[in-house]
Amino acid sequence: MDDRASGRAGDAPIGIFDSGLGGLTVLKEVRARLPAENLIYLGDTARVPYGPKSPRTITRFAMEAALFLLRQGVKLLVVACNTSSAMALDTLRATLRIPVIGVIEPGIRAAVAAARGEKIGVIGTLGTISSEVYQRGIAERMPAAEIHAVACPLFVPLVEEGWREHPVTAMVAEEYLGPLRKAGVDTLVLGCTHYPVLEDVIRETMGSGTRLVDSAQVVAEEVGGVLDGTVLAAAGDTVPWTRFYATDVPGRMANWGERIWGMHIPEVTRVEVDELATPKTTS
Ligand code: DGL
Repeated sequence: MDDRASGRAGDAPIGIFDSGLGGLTVLKEVRARLPAENLIYLGDTARVPYGPKSPRTITRFAMEAALFLLRQGVKLLVVACNTSSAMALDTLRATLRIPVIGVIEPGIRAAVAAARGEKIGVIGTLGTISSEVYQRGIAERMPAAEIHAVACPLFVPLVEEGWREHPVTAMVAEEYLGPLRKAGVDTLVLGCTHYPVLEDVIRETMGSGTRLVDSAQVVAEEVGGVLDGTVLAAAGDTVPWTRFYATDVPGRMANWGERIWGMHIPEVTRVEVDELATPKTTS
């Protein structure tokens, strides 16, 4: 049965989107925290990476993804992309009539809660780091913090390529993270949803003295906090489903999800970029 046809608000899915495959890290946690919910994941794989693009372009892409998910009847939107959260969250919230949850605010809260000392590192895409949203948010809550923010533009393509254990990835990690280690950073925020895939190499490069912070669990908790106990929460009396969409080569998402996270993704539907904002007409 179509979820909207059931007439129960709780049956509507939660929409989750990212520029590519990184947002699957968030989907995994949302599924674990909210096992009864229906989920729709959209990866804009045709246009990844978002990181080096301008705020205007990213806002347009994020709005197009949101419009597509709204047409699928989502009741809540998770922007599982730090770059889009940094650039487009305010516009999405001002425009959409459903709750919109980004990953940065939860990431900041998680960083402050996890901080051991006062040397906090933040890594993310060029867009996220240059927006300074993390730096400002952490400084507001921890005025004494010494914040070291570094853009790691090569990490996203390495992750999308599946080069988790490749020697080149270790070299790139040393280039980006060596200065943070030398500066004595004790808490490192993974400010991009692709980076948890590189957790092992990042941990090895930083050493055991650094705590890594990934916002995915906190985001899932926030989604739960919005839905729990409201009419929007799934009743739990039907079998939940997850649908996957990609704007390019659908097979890659299934392979990647399986290989990296052991996820079972039976089907990924391709949706063309120009159909995101404007549905195909049949005439
Ligand atoms: N996973 C995304 C993020 O959290 C986007 C990476 C990109 O497309 O550059 O920022």
